[in-house]
Amino acid sequence: MANAEQRFSAVGSGAALELRGVTRLFGALAALTDVTITVRPGERRAVLGSNGAGKTTLFNCVTGDFPPSSGTIRFFGEDITHFPAYERIRRGLRRTYQISALFPGLTVRDNVYLACRGVSRGRFSLLRPRPNDALMHSAEALIQAVHLTPVRERRVAELAHGQQRQLEIALALAGAPRFILFDEPAAGLSPAERRELIEILTSLPAHIGYIIIEHDMDVALRVVESVTMMHNGRVFKEGPPQEIESDPEVQELYLGGGHG
Ligand SMILES: Nc1ncnc2c1ncn2[C@@H]1O[C@H](COP(=O)(O)OP(=O)(O)O)[C@@H](O)[C@H]1O
Ligand SMILES: [Mg+2]
Repeated sequence: MANAEQRFSAVGSGAALELRGVTRLFGALAALTDVTITVRPGERRAVLGSNGAGKTTLFNCVTGDFPPSSGTIRFFGEDITHFPAYERIRRGLRRTYQISALFPGLTVRDNVYLACRGVSRGRFSLLRPRPNDALMHSAEALIQAVHLTPVRERRVAELAHGQQRQLEIALALAGAPRFILFDEPAAGLSPAERRELIEILTSLPAHIGYIIIEHDMDVALRVVESVTMMHNGRVFKEGPPQEIESDPEVQELYLGGGHG
């Protein structure tokens, strides 16, 4: 009964992602404490905060890599708190990692093709996998969406850093996601690469919501409509980007340094 009620109230809230009272402990350390965040379908949100604030742990709780110690997480109304990671992927949740998860010896096209095949049904086929036209077509479309068509035959190891980050976005887009978690996609990018990233993110289909961990306010301001500022594992402030940027307490935390 409680379950049905909870489901009903979550559906009623209409959220894409809803964290309620999420706490994550690592031994005696509370990496997250009582975090409550609601993101609407299609909403784009930045998470800011100094090193160790709990941003990546927040992602790990949502993806199931490190589930919460307590609290609940709902994805489009469904309680996924205790789901294994692959069940969340099946429901349209994706993430990119701070550390690259690409195959360096393969071409751009093969990396994207494998990601498309991985999320499609053919994955467990006992037949020897043959190139599939529909998947090939999807892969080409994703390569174009992240502006890598000119280098699609290149091996990943030969790509510039910014191009590798763009490729990671293509992999996250495989299999029609509904929501993506981007962990510092702008880290280490040149100003030109940042502009490219901004263009890619703002051109994503409107129904795809995301949370982006991003320190650079210039990037964050252009690609999100809301900001959650974290500090010491807690939500410190929430609001529209301009409001957060001009907030004296946020500025003090930022000017105090240590973010990165
Ligand atoms: N797997 C882990 N084991 C132990 N401690 C962890 C683990 N992951 C994160 N932490 C700790 O949790 C805190 C938050 O880390 P993290 O979420 O990575 O912060 P951020 O991404 O904001 O820099 C840090 O003190 C970090 O050392
Ligand atoms: Mg992190």
